[in-house]
Amino acid sequence: MFPYSHFPQRRMRRMRRDKFSRNLMREVYLRADDLIYPVFVLDGKNRSENVESMPGVVRQSIDLLLIQAERCLQLGIPALAIFPVIDVKYKTLNASESYNPDGLVPRVVRQLKLNFPELGIITDIALDPYTIHGQDGLIDPSGYVINDETVDVLCQQALAHAQAGADIVAPSDMMDGRISAIRNSLDSQKFIHTRILAYAAKYASSFYGPFRDAVGSAKNLGAGNKYTYQMDPANSDEALWEVGLDLDEGADMVMIKPGMPYLDIVRRVKDQFGAPTFVYQVSGEYAMLKASVINGWLNEESCVLESLLAFKRAGADGILSYYALEAAEWLKKTT
Ligand code: PBG
Repeated sequence: MFPYSHFPQRRMRRMRRDKFSRNLMREVYLRADDLIYPVFVLDGKNRSENVESMPGVVRQSIDLLLIQAERCLQLGIPALAIFPVIDVKYKTLNASESYNPDGLVPRVVRQLKLNFPELGIITDIALDPYTIHGQDGLIDPSGYVINDETVDVLCQQALAHAQAGADIVAPSDMMDGRISAIRNSLDSQKFIHTRILAYAAKYASSFYGPFRDAVGSAKNLGAGNKYTYQMDPANSDEALWEVGLDLDEGADMVMIKPGMPYLDIVRRVKDQFGAPTFVYQVSGEYAMLKASVINGWLNEESCVLESLLAFKRAGADGILSYYALEAAEWLKKTT
């Protein structure tokens, strides 16, 4: 056999041969400052509970959360996203605890800003931790989540968080018109610097299961679902429509959620709008990775870093991940 007939026209492997040339052609990087750390917070002191369906993740009281917040700063993670575990005695039909200026979230925000003013604090705007039925909004007698009345409450909730010092409010409720309503409320009280991160394309996903265990809303929601406001996983044009509306209404950043099953949406949103685009590697994604790791089926560090890098490649500017702290530790080691 004459060897010349086998010379490939293009040798893709030439650039892959050595580390230096692999590094030269690398297109995207994952860094600690791409990460946002979501945390579950409880009332009380020195309390830490394991979340069963998310091994390694805890619900903890403010004093313990401060230690993790400091770790974020040391590692270069720019922001924390706070999710409260609300005692059942505060859950009502009208969700009035959601805008209590002395409620759990405002107290946590004040503590964090007092101790670590340079750490960005993101709060979730939605009513599910505060309603007895676990829906993100108020309901009518038939159980339907009523839009405009809910938006009024969300505005009060956003104001209470801004007053406490939240840097970013993140409406995750999927009501119509909430971004402009919240922007107006904030501006009218002179909170012109409070940023809005809109969960613009939030799907009605089964991957939120472990989160609902973590905040204790699963038992309230029961057999209920969120199909009348969260998006159908079958749709992607609709996601662009949602994102466009939220940006027009004044969102500073948009979010796609869940993450890994929706990389196509991340790419389309970034291409079409070029706005700051975030993605949420949700509780079920964490649980899948962790379960495989615990079984010895996947290597944790390389698989988690690969999953996070994939978000960057798809066009995300930042990633919410329960793996943020560990990922930042691993990244420090490799760079
Ligand atoms: C509630 C909210 C949810 C998540 C973030 N905010 C759950 C839901 O919509 O039921 C899910 C996050 C996760 O699964 O990690 N508004």
